[in-house]
Amino acid sequence: MDLVSKIKENAKKHGMRIVLPEGTEIRTLKAADQVIGEGLANIILIGNPDQIFAMAKENNLNNIAQSTIVNPVNHAKKEQYTDLLFDLRKSKGLSREDASKLVEDPLYLAVLMIKSGDADGEVAGADNATGDVLRPAFQIVKTLPGISVVSGAFIMILNDKEFGEDGLMVFADCAVHPNPTARELAEIAVATGHTTRAIAGFEPKIAMLSFSTKGSAKHEMVDKVVEATKIAKEMAPDMMIEGELQSDAAIIPEIGQKKAPGSKIAGSANVLVFPTLETGNIAYKLVQRMAHAEAIGPVLQGMAAPINDLSRGCSVSDIVNLVAITANQAAGMKK
Ligand code: ACO
Repeated sequence: MDLVSKIKENAKKHGMRIVLPEGTEIRTLKAADQVIGEGLANIILIGNPDQIFAMAKENNLNNIAQSTIVNPVNHAKKEQYTDLLFDLRKSKGLSREDASKLVEDPLYLAVLMIKSGDADGEVAGADNATGDVLRPAFQIVKTLPGISVVSGAFIMILNDKEFGEDGLMVFADCAVHPNPTARELAEIAVATGHTTRAIAGFEPKIAMLSFSTKGSAKHEMVDKVVEATKIAKEMAPDMMIEGELQSDAAIIPEIGQKKAPGSKIAGSANVLVFPTLETGNIAYKLVQRMAHAEAIGPVLQGMAAPINDLSRGCSVSDIVNLVAITANQAAGMKK
Protein backbone atom coordinates (compact mmCIF):
# COMPACT_ATOMS: atom_id res chain seq x y z
CA MET A 1 0.00 0.00 0.00
CA ASP A 2 1.40 3.45 -0.88
CA LEU A 3 1.95 6.14 1.75
CA VAL A 4 -1.17 8.18 0.96
CA SER A 5 -3.38 5.07 1.14
CA LYS A 6 -1.81 4.13 4.49
CA ILE A 7 -2.42 7.63 5.88
CA LYS A 8 -6.05 7.48 4.72
CA GLU A 9 -6.68 3.99 6.13
CA ASN A 10 -5.33 5.15 9.47
CA ALA A 11 -7.46 8.31 9.46
CA LYS A 12 -10.63 6.24 8.94
CA LYS A 13 -10.10 4.53 12.32
CA HIS A 14 -10.32 7.70 14.37
CA GLY A 15 -13.37 9.80 13.38
CA MET A 16 -11.58 13.07 14.19
CA ARG A 17 -13.44 16.40 13.81
CA ILE A 18 -11.57 18.59 11.33
CA VAL A 19 -12.63 22.19 10.86
CA LEU A 20 -12.31 23.82 7.42
CA PRO A 21 -12.69 27.60 7.87
CA GLU A 22 -12.78 28.27 4.11
CA GLY A 23 -16.17 26.59 3.74
CA THR A 24 -17.21 28.63 0.71
CA GLU A 25 -14.01 27.94 -1.25
CA ILE A 26 -14.89 25.49 -4.01
CA ARG A 27 -11.83 23.18 -3.82
CA THR A 28 -12.30 23.02 -0.06
CA LEU A 29 -15.97 22.14 -0.47
CA LYS A 30 -15.18 19.42 -3.03
CA ALA A 31 -12.48 18.05 -0.71
CA ALA A 32 -14.93 18.07 2.23
CA ASP A 33 -17.41 16.08 0.15
CA GLN A 34 -14.69 13.52 -0.69
CA VAL A 35 -13.42 13.30 2.91
CA ILE A 36 -16.94 12.57 4.15
CA GLY A 37 -17.53 10.09 1.31
CA GLU A 38 -14.32 8.19 2.12
CA GLY A 39 -15.02 8.37 5.89
CA LEU A 40 -11.65 10.01 6.65
CA ALA A 41 -12.95 12.51 9.22
CA ASN A 42 -16.00 14.38 10.46
CA ILE A 43 -16.06 17.76 8.78
CA ILE A 44 -16.97 21.15 10.25
CA LEU A 45 -17.36 23.86 7.60
CA ILE A 46 -17.29 27.54 8.53
CA GLY A 47 -19.27 29.82 6.23
CA ASN A 48 -22.71 31.07 5.31
CA PRO A 49 -24.93 27.94 5.28
CA ASP A 50 -27.12 29.18 2.39
CA GLN A 51 -24.07 29.80 0.25
CA ILE A 52 -22.51 26.45 1.16
CA PHE A 53 -25.71 24.51 0.38
CA ALA A 54 -26.15 26.39 -2.93
CA MET A 55 -22.57 25.60 -3.99
CA ALA A 56 -22.95 21.98 -2.90
CA LYS A 57 -26.16 21.62 -4.93
CA GLU A 58 -24.67 23.22 -8.01
CA ASN A 59 -21.67 20.86 -7.89
CA ASN A 60 -23.54 17.69 -6.85
CA LEU A 61 -21.67 17.48 -3.55
CA ASN A 62 -24.27 15.37 -1.79
CA ASN A 63 -22.12 14.44 1.23
CA ILE A 64 -21.96 18.07 2.39
CA ALA A 65 -25.36 17.49 4.03
CA GLN A 66 -23.51 15.32 6.58
CA SER A 67 -21.10 18.07 7.63
CA THR A 68 -21.57 20.46 10.54
CA ILE A 69 -21.87 24.02 9.24
CA VAL A 70 -21.08 26.96 11.49
CA ASN A 71 -22.11 30.45 10.42
CA PRO A 72 -19.31 32.72 11.72
CA VAL A 73 -21.58 35.71 12.31
CA ASN A 74 -24.40 33.88 14.03
CA HIS A 75 -23.99 30.72 16.10
CA ALA A 76 -24.75 29.48 19.61
CA LYS A 77 -21.21 29.75 21.03
CA LYS A 78 -20.30 33.20 19.75
CA GLU A 79 -20.33 34.87 23.17
CA GLN A 80 -18.38 32.00 24.75
CA TYR A 81 -15.66 32.17 22.08
CA THR A 82 -15.51 35.97 22.36
CA ASP A 83 -14.90 35.66 26.11
CA LEU A 84 -12.19 33.08 25.51
CA LEU A 85 -10.45 35.18 22.85
CA PHE A 86 -10.60 38.30 25.05
CA ASP A 87 -9.25 36.36 28.00
CA LEU A 88 -6.34 34.92 26.01
CA ARG A 89 -5.34 38.16 24.29
CA LYS A 90 -6.22 41.01 26.67
CA SER A 91 -2.66 41.04 28.01
CA LYS A 92 -1.58 41.78 24.40
CA GLY A 93 -3.93 44.79 24.29
CA LEU A 94 -7.01 43.20 22.64
CA SER A 95 -10.24 44.94 23.74
CA ARG A 96 -13.51 43.03 24.18
CA GLU A 97 -14.98 45.01 21.31
CA ASP A 98 -12.15 43.97 18.99
CA ALA A 99 -12.47 40.38 20.22
CA SER A 100 -16.17 40.37 19.29
CA LYS A 101 -15.24 41.40 15.72
CA LEU A 102 -12.27 39.05 15.42
CA VAL A 103 -14.35 36.07 16.48
CA GLU A 104 -16.31 36.40 13.23
CA ASP A 105 -13.13 35.82 11.24
CA PRO A 106 -13.31 32.14 10.20
CA LEU A 107 -9.56 31.66 10.80
CA TYR A 108 -9.92 32.85 14.41
CA LEU A 109 -13.18 31.00 14.91
CA ALA A 110 -11.58 27.71 13.81
CA VAL A 111 -8.75 27.90 16.35
CA LEU A 112 -11.16 28.99 19.10
CA MET A 113 -13.22 25.87 18.35
CA ILE A 114 -10.07 23.75 18.74
CA LYS A 115 -9.05 25.54 21.94
CA SER A 116 -12.58 24.92 23.34
CA GLY A 117 -12.50 21.21 22.47
CA ASP A 118 -15.17 21.57 19.76
CA ALA A 119 -12.83 20.46 16.94
CA ASP A 120 -9.71 18.27 16.84
CA GLY A 121 -7.76 19.90 14.01
CA GLU A 122 -7.85 22.45 11.20
CA VAL A 123 -6.87 22.64 7.54
CA ALA A 124 -6.91 26.04 5.78
CA GLY A 125 -4.95 28.08 3.27
CA ALA A 126 -6.61 27.36 -0.09
CA ASP A 127 -7.81 30.96 -0.01
CA ASN A 128 -5.61 32.65 2.61
CA ALA A 129 -1.89 33.39 2.87
CA THR A 130 0.19 31.25 5.23
CA GLY A 131 0.78 34.08 7.70
CA ASP A 132 -2.96 34.72 8.05
CA VAL A 133 -3.63 31.03 8.76
CA LEU A 134 -0.77 30.71 11.23
CA ARG A 135 -1.07 33.91 13.26
CA PRO A 136 -4.37 32.99 15.02
CA ALA A 137 -3.01 29.51 15.66
CA PHE A 138 0.18 30.86 17.22
CA GLN A 139 -1.77 33.33 19.34
CA ILE A 140 -4.45 30.95 20.61
CA VAL A 141 -3.34 27.31 20.33
CA LYS A 142 0.39 28.00 20.84
CA THR A 143 3.26 25.51 20.86
CA LEU A 144 3.69 22.15 22.58
CA PRO A 145 5.35 22.23 26.02
CA GLY A 146 9.14 22.48 25.62
CA ILE A 147 8.89 23.62 21.98
CA SER A 148 9.33 27.28 21.09
CA VAL A 149 9.02 27.21 17.34
CA VAL A 150 6.48 25.89 14.85
CA SER A 151 7.81 24.74 11.49
CA GLY A 152 6.48 23.05 8.38
CA ALA A 153 7.64 19.76 6.85
CA PHE A 154 6.88 18.32 3.41
CA ILE A 155 6.81 14.62 2.67
CA MET A 156 8.31 14.43 -0.81
CA ILE A 157 7.33 11.44 -2.95
CA LEU A 158 10.03 11.24 -5.63
CA ASN A 159 9.84 9.33 -8.88
CA ASP A 160 13.50 8.39 -8.50
CA LYS A 161 13.40 5.60 -5.90
CA GLU A 162 17.17 5.68 -5.30
CA PHE A 163 16.83 8.74 -3.06
CA GLY A 164 15.76 8.65 0.58
CA GLU A 165 13.57 5.77 1.71
CA ASP A 166 12.56 4.17 -1.55
CA GLY A 167 11.84 7.62 -3.00
CA LEU A 168 10.33 9.13 0.16
CA MET A 169 12.05 12.10 1.77
CA VAL A 170 11.05 14.73 4.34
CA PHE A 171 12.07 18.38 3.90
CA ALA A 172 11.83 21.12 6.59
CA ASP A 173 11.34 23.97 7.36
CA CYS A 174 9.69 24.88 4.08
CA ALA A 175 6.78 26.92 5.35
CA VAL A 176 7.00 28.88 8.58
CA HIS A 177 10.00 30.32 10.38
CA PRO A 178 12.09 32.64 8.19
CA ASN A 179 15.43 32.78 9.95
CA PRO A 180 15.84 30.32 12.84
CA THR A 181 18.59 30.62 15.43
CA ALA A 182 20.83 27.60 16.01
CA ARG A 183 18.61 26.49 18.91
CA GLU A 184 15.44 26.88 16.82
CA LEU A 185 17.03 25.02 13.89
CA ALA A 186 17.86 22.16 16.27
CA GLU A 187 14.21 22.09 17.44
CA ILE A 188 13.08 22.02 13.80
CA ALA A 189 15.39 19.06 13.10
CA VAL A 190 14.12 17.06 16.06
CA ALA A 191 10.47 17.90 15.32
CA THR A 192 11.03 16.78 11.72
CA GLY A 193 12.47 13.51 12.97
CA HIS A 194 9.28 12.93 14.98
CA THR A 195 7.06 13.86 12.01
CA THR A 196 9.04 11.42 9.84
CA ARG A 197 8.45 8.59 12.28
CA ALA A 198 4.77 9.43 12.84
CA ILE A 199 3.56 10.30 9.34
CA ALA A 200 6.11 9.02 6.81
CA GLY A 201 6.67 5.84 8.83
CA PHE A 202 10.45 5.36 8.55
CA GLU A 203 13.46 5.98 10.77
CA PRO A 204 14.91 9.44 10.08
CA LYS A 205 18.48 9.99 8.85
CA ILE A 206 18.71 13.74 9.20
CA ALA A 207 21.09 15.94 7.20
CA MET A 208 21.58 19.50 8.46
CA LEU A 209 22.19 21.31 5.19
CA SER A 210 24.61 24.12 4.47
CA PHE A 211 26.90 25.32 1.68
CA SER A 212 29.75 23.60 3.51
CA THR A 213 30.54 19.97 4.36
CA LYS A 214 32.44 19.29 7.57
CA GLY A 215 34.34 22.58 7.62
CA SER A 216 34.94 22.99 3.88
CA ALA A 217 33.78 26.62 4.11
CA LYS A 218 34.05 29.15 6.92
CA HIS A 219 31.16 31.57 7.53
CA GLU A 220 28.83 32.55 10.35
CA MET A 221 25.96 30.87 8.44
CA VAL A 222 27.92 27.61 8.51
CA ASP A 223 28.65 28.10 12.23
CA LYS A 224 24.90 28.29 12.88
CA VAL A 225 24.32 24.89 11.26
CA VAL A 226 27.29 23.33 13.11
CA GLU A 227 25.89 24.63 16.42
CA ALA A 228 22.35 23.50 15.54
CA THR A 229 23.63 19.99 14.78
CA LYS A 230 25.34 19.81 18.17
CA ILE A 231 22.21 20.97 20.01
CA ALA A 232 19.91 18.65 18.02
CA LYS A 233 22.12 15.63 18.88
CA GLU A 234 21.91 16.57 22.57
CA MET A 235 18.14 17.03 22.34
CA ALA A 236 17.55 13.68 20.62
CA PRO A 237 20.43 11.27 21.25
CA ASP A 238 18.32 8.44 19.76
CA MET A 239 18.06 10.17 16.37
CA MET A 240 20.59 9.95 13.52
CA ILE A 241 21.60 13.55 12.81
CA GLU A 242 24.60 14.75 10.76
CA GLY A 243 25.87 18.19 9.84
CA GLU A 244 26.95 20.36 8.36
CA LEU A 245 26.47 18.78 4.92
CA GLN A 246 26.01 20.12 1.40
CA SER A 247 22.98 18.73 -0.36
CA ASP A 248 25.00 16.53 -2.76
CA ALA A 249 26.98 15.09 0.15
CA ALA A 250 23.68 14.39 1.90
CA ILE A 251 22.01 12.38 -0.87
CA ILE A 252 24.66 10.98 -3.25
CA PRO A 253 26.54 8.05 -1.66
CA GLU A 254 29.88 8.54 -3.47
CA ILE A 255 29.97 12.27 -2.75
CA GLY A 256 28.87 11.72 0.85
CA GLN A 257 31.69 9.26 1.45
CA LYS A 258 34.23 11.52 -0.25
CA LYS A 259 33.28 14.67 1.65
CA ALA A 260 32.30 13.07 4.98
CA PRO A 261 34.16 9.75 5.11
CA GLY A 262 32.74 7.19 7.53
CA SER A 263 29.44 9.00 7.99
CA LYS A 264 26.37 6.75 8.33
CA ILE A 265 24.11 9.52 7.04
CA ALA A 266 26.07 11.38 4.35
CA GLY A 267 24.94 10.01 0.98
CA SER A 268 21.83 8.29 2.33
CA ALA A 269 19.95 11.01 4.21
CA ASN A 270 16.16 10.74 4.06
CA VAL A 271 15.41 13.97 5.94
CA LEU A 272 16.78 17.33 4.78
CA VAL A 273 16.77 20.23 7.26
CA PHE A 274 17.37 23.57 5.53
CA PRO A 275 19.19 26.42 7.28
CA THR A 276 16.51 29.03 6.51
CA LEU A 277 12.95 29.20 5.25
CA GLU A 278 14.18 30.75 2.00
CA THR A 279 16.28 27.73 1.13
CA GLY A 280 13.66 25.19 2.24
CA ASN A 281 10.74 26.81 0.44
CA ILE A 282 12.69 27.32 -2.79
CA ALA A 283 14.09 23.77 -2.72
CA TYR A 284 10.81 21.94 -2.16
CA LYS A 285 9.04 23.89 -4.92
CA LEU A 286 11.87 23.24 -7.40
CA VAL A 287 11.93 19.52 -6.63
CA GLN A 288 8.13 19.39 -6.85
CA ARG A 289 8.01 21.13 -10.23
CA MET A 290 11.23 20.08 -11.96
CA ALA A 291 11.42 16.50 -10.71
CA HIS A 292 7.62 16.08 -10.79
CA ALA A 293 7.61 14.99 -7.16
CA GLU A 294 4.47 14.90 -5.07
CA ALA A 295 4.80 17.25 -2.07
CA ILE A 296 2.49 16.39 0.83
CA GLY A 297 2.15 19.18 3.35
CA PRO A 298 3.26 21.40 4.83
CA VAL A 299 2.71 19.28 7.92
CA LEU A 300 2.99 21.78 10.73
CA GLN A 301 5.03 20.56 13.65
CA GLY A 302 5.41 21.88 17.18
CA MET A 303 1.87 23.30 17.55
CA ALA A 304 -0.20 22.19 20.56
CA ALA A 305 -2.98 20.99 18.20
CA PRO A 306 -2.79 19.93 14.55
CA ILE A 307 -3.35 22.93 12.30
CA ASN A 308 -2.16 22.61 8.75
CA ASP A 309 -1.75 25.18 6.03
CA LEU A 310 -2.28 24.62 2.30
CA SER A 311 -0.57 26.31 -0.59
CA ARG A 312 -3.07 28.54 -2.44
CA GLY A 313 -2.20 26.57 -5.60
CA CYS A 314 -3.44 23.35 -3.96
CA SER A 315 -5.64 20.77 -5.67
CA VAL A 316 -8.69 19.04 -4.21
CA SER A 317 -6.63 15.91 -3.57
CA ASP A 318 -3.95 17.99 -1.76
CA ILE A 319 -6.68 19.14 0.63
CA VAL A 320 -8.07 15.63 1.12
CA ASN A 321 -4.57 14.29 1.85
CA LEU A 322 -3.83 17.07 4.34
CA VAL A 323 -7.14 16.48 6.13
CA ALA A 324 -6.17 12.80 6.48
CA ILE A 325 -2.72 13.75 7.83
CA THR A 326 -4.31 16.22 10.26
CA ALA A 327 -6.71 13.54 11.47
CA ASN A 328 -3.75 11.21 12.13
CA GLN A 329 -1.87 13.94 13.99
CA ALA A 330 -4.98 14.70 16.07
CA ALA A 331 -5.47 11.03 16.94
CA GLY A 332 -1.77 10.75 17.88
CA MET A 333 -1.98 13.81 20.12
CA LYS A 334 -5.09 12.49 21.88
CA LYS A 335 -3.16 9.32 22.80
N1 ACO B 1 6.42 29.34 16.16
C1 ACO B 1 5.65 29.61 17.23
N2 ACO B 1 5.15 30.83 17.50
C2 ACO B 1 5.46 31.83 16.63
C3 ACO B 1 6.27 31.61 15.50
C4 ACO B 1 6.75 30.28 15.27
N3 ACO B 1 7.48 29.94 14.19
N4 ACO B 1 6.39 32.78 14.82
C5 ACO B 1 5.67 33.70 15.52
N5 ACO B 1 5.12 33.12 16.61
C6 ACO B 1 4.21 33.74 17.61
C7 ACO B 1 4.84 34.90 18.33
O1 ACO B 1 5.46 34.45 19.51
C8 ACO B 1 3.63 35.78 18.64
O2 ACO B 1 2.92 35.28 19.74
P1 ACO B 1 2.23 36.32 20.78
O3 ACO B 1 1.41 37.29 19.96
O4 ACO B 1 1.38 35.45 21.66
O5 ACO B 1 3.36 36.99 21.49
C9 ACO B 1 2.71 35.58 17.42
O6 ACO B 1 3.12 34.32 16.85
C10 ACO B 1 2.85 36.65 16.39
O7 ACO B 1 4.25 36.88 16.24
P2 ACO B 1 4.89 37.87 15.21
O8 ACO B 1 6.38 37.89 15.37
O9 ACO B 1 4.15 39.18 15.26
O10 ACO B 1 4.61 37.08 13.93
P3 ACO B 1 4.20 37.58 12.54
O11 ACO B 1 2.75 37.67 12.47
O12 ACO B 1 5.01 38.75 12.13
O13 ACO B 1 4.77 36.34 11.71
C11 ACO B 1 4.43 34.32 10.64
C12 ACO B 1 4.55 34.98 12.00
C13 ACO B 1 3.12 34.77 10.06
C14 ACO B 1 4.41 32.82 10.70
C15 ACO B 1 5.66 34.77 9.81
O14 ACO B 1 6.79 34.19 10.37
C16 ACO B 1 5.52 34.41 8.38
O15 ACO B 1 4.81 35.08 7.62
N6 ACO B 1 6.25 33.34 7.95
C17 ACO B 1 6.33 32.97 6.58
C18 ACO B 1 5.17 32.16 6.16
C19 ACO B 1 5.21 32.02 4.70
O16 ACO B 1 4.85 32.95 3.99
N7 ACO B 1 5.67 30.85 4.22
C20 ACO B 1 5.93 30.59 2.84
C21 ACO B 1 4.76 30.10 2.11
S1 ACO B 1 4.20 28.51 2.65
C22 ACO B 1 4.20 27.50 1.27
O17 ACO B 1 4.73 27.83 0.27
C23 ACO B 1 3.55 26.19 1.44
